[in-house]
Amino acid sequence: MSEPLLENKIAVVTGAAQGIGYAIAERFVAEGARIVLGDLDSGTVTDAAKRLGGPETAIGVRCDVTNADDVDTLLQAALDTFGGLDVMVNNAGITRDATMRTMTEDQFDQVVSVHLKGTWNGTRKAAAIMRERKSGAIVNLSSLSGKVGMVGQTNYSAAKAGIVGLSKAAAKEVAHHGIRVNAIQPGLIRTAMTEAMPEKAWGQKMAEIPLGRAGEVDEIASVALFLASDLSSYMTGTVLEVTGGRLM
Ligand SMILES: NC(=O)c1ccc[n+]([C@@H]2O[C@H](COP(=O)([O-])OP(=O)(O)OC[C@H]3O[C@@H](n4cnc5c(N)ncnc54)[C@H](O)[C@@H]3O)[C@@H](O)[C@H]2O)c1
Repeated sequence: MSEPLLENKIAVVTGAAQGIGYAIAERFVAEGARIVLGDLDSGTVTDAAKRLGGPETAIGVRCDVTNADDVDTLLQAALDTFGGLDVMVNNAGITRDATMRTMTEDQFDQVVSVHLKGTWNGTRKAAAIMRERKSGAIVNLSSLSGKVGMVGQTNYSAAKAGIVGLSKAAAKEVAHHGIRVNAIQPGLIRTAMTEAMPEKAWGQKMAEIPLGRAGEVDEIASVALFLASDLSSYMTGTVLEVTGGRLM
């Protein structure tokens, strides 16, 4: 049997109480990693960690990624509990969809803050720890919306495109410390975020997908695993589309 891909690795995943973040954490644990999950609600994130095997393998920490001190606390939990930090996944996200005519300034600021500032906080703070050990992998969740722009998502598309620029700039800054930074652009993935979408919008998106179906969270988790592990040791600054071929 082949070696687990993340044996003895320590990973932090933000927005990990549910959806794609939880699926990534679950997959990492299955590949031998110990995990710190961060999310907004302390009870929910602690329950998620329990489902992943409890304190030996996973702990949950309350963390709002827009707050730099919270991100410090999250990363410090990985150092204090498991003794290191090998992988950081910046996954936390929200949508506040509205056309520009109706979008409020607050809806714009919230989305940009969670995605862009949150990912910046996670990337810079994880890199500051990883550079001491001269190795690490950072995986940032962008979106197909950041590649093509979507109606009703001027806030989200801007933030997700920003994550691409941020990831590439960071990849260049930290490559000589042995740290890789890559991004994933998921297409339509079945989670609470997309199930909130009106049926008509769902149908329109489905029609654009050559593989003819929405993606599942596990199909994002596999790509996150690839980028987090040594399978992708010569890749940095890349953006992987996981979209079923949609808007390729
Ligand atoms: N589902 C999709 O089709 C899809 C497509 C493209 C990109 N994405 C991206 O993938 C990521 C995960 O999306 P999902 O579909 O699993 O969403 P989700 O809503 O199911 O989960 C997002 C998680 O992030 C947490 N969160 C929100 N704001 C936070 C904050 N400030 N600090 C910490 N945690 C916070 C939420 O509490 C939640 O647990 C997001 O970045 C999203 O933009 C999703």
